[in-house]
Amino acid sequence: MTAPLRIALAGLGTVGAGVIRLLEENGALIAARAGRPIEVVAVSARNRTKDRGADLSGMAWEDDMTQLANHGEVDVVVELVGGSDGPALALARKALSGGKHLVTANKAMIAHHGMELATLAEEKGLSLKFEAAVAGGIPVIKGLGEGAAANRIDRVYGILNGTCNYILSQMESTGADFADVLKAAQDLGYAEADPAFDIEGVDAGHKLAILAALAFGTAVDFAALDISGITRVRAADIAQADALGHVIRLVGQAELQADGHLFQRVAPVLVAKSHPLASVDGPTNAVVAEGNFVGRLLFVGRGAGDGPTASAVVADLIDIARGNATPPFSLPAAMLSATPAADPGHRTSRAYMRFVVADRPGVLAEITAAMRDAGVSIESLIQQGRPEEGGEVLVAIVSHEGPESAVAAALALLEGSPSISEPPLVMRLIG
Ligand SMILES: NC(=O)c1ccc[n+]([C@@H]2O[C@H](COP(=O)([O-])OP(=O)(O)OC[C@H]3O[C@@H](n4cnc5c(N)ncnc54)[C@H](OP(=O)(O)O)[C@@H]3O)[C@@H](O)[C@H]2O)c1
Repeated sequence: MTAPLRIALAGLGTVGAGVIRLLEENGALIAARAGRPIEVVAVSARNRTKDRGADLSGMAWEDDMTQLANHGEVDVVVELVGGSDGPALALARKALSGGKHLVTANKAMIAHHGMELATLAEEKGLSLKFEAAVAGGIPVIKGLGEGAAANRIDRVYGILNGTCNYILSQMESTGADFADVLKAAQDLGYAEADPAFDIEGVDAGHKLAILAALAFGTAVDFAALDISGITRVRAADIAQADALGHVIRLVGQAELQADGHLFQRVAPVLVAKSHPLASVDGPTNAVVAEGNFVGRLLFVGRGAGDGPTASAVVADLIDIARGNATPPFSLPAAMLSATPAADPGHRTSRAYMRFVVADRPGVLAEITAAMRDAGVSIESLIQQGRPEEGGEVLVAIVSHEGPESAVAAALALLEGSPSISEPPLVMRLIG
């Protein structure tokens, strides 16, 4: 057996400690598969005395995580701290500039700085790997970048945030409202104390931007994403979706349109119960990709947690140990083309529009007149029988397939109407 692959690991939280436990427990198997042992020689975290549930003996400790890049004997730096900038980015730059391979689970950093880091890695002839950054334990980076590499991929979409999926599934099974389910999820550890990145769709957006670059060979363009989260979804929407034969899921969708424009959106959508994504419940993640020769691929599994995420990190380490070198985004960074963002107004979809209205005559007529004037064809209109708290009533409209610009125009006509008490919630239907 050849010399071990030597690792310096920053971050000993959920993922970092998980990686150390995995390497400990499956060490012999991994060494056999990788052709050499994988050995952690140095670590860094904030608190040196904290019990990590893992054996750190024999590993050097660094208080300043960026110093890990200076360890002469290290082959790979593994960054498991998080944050798009700050010390994580400083370490990543320093590691690659200094001749170390880099493995990270940090989707925020790759979504914002992936192009720079990929270019740097290639200049230096090093690996930059981030399997754990998208959909945790699911090997979707490898699946798209290698397994499906022979295909032109036109569309990639999926459920990319386990916290949101857990919340929506719980709302579905209990009938409870968003705030109550979020609170329960936090108590159970399924949602962070500060859940903003998850529930507002930013985390899913980071992952989608990475997937889009990988799938289409476009430059990572997180800034161009159209993002909305799940905070405005009410129990009544879930019930309404159910009555229409759908469930609500936060879905990230990316498509390289025939006109060469890149469409990227994260939003809650109504998914037909017959669609494979509808049965993806709880904290599970799922990614669908459509290749021109392979057809539809569906990747499903656990998108977070110490075990699945560590599994993905160590898979990257095994690749490096074996000497498998692939460009981070499957194409050389210089070939990832900057692509203009699609105008969603030109897209067509069926839309679910939910209004909170005053319980008085004439309101429905006002809404339907706006739809007619903007050219939105109504497929169904449902008025909730029982008023919400405060005497307001929910009205839901589902449109026939039509341009998104028409829906936007109808809502613009209704803007400022004294009958409508909050901005309407619009969700598209997929099925
Ligand atoms: N958790 C998941 O399921 C999951 C899934 C996929 C991807 N990820 C990504 O994996 C990364 C790590 O996530 P996590 O859940 O493991 O986070 P975490 O549990 O909060 O752990 C973060 C670790 O980083 C250390 N740290 C923070 N600031 C530091 C600094 N300035 N210098 C040195 N160490 C520092 C912390 O040290 P102390 O422990 O001493 O405070 C902690 O050990 C993030 O990029 C995250 O997005 C996580």
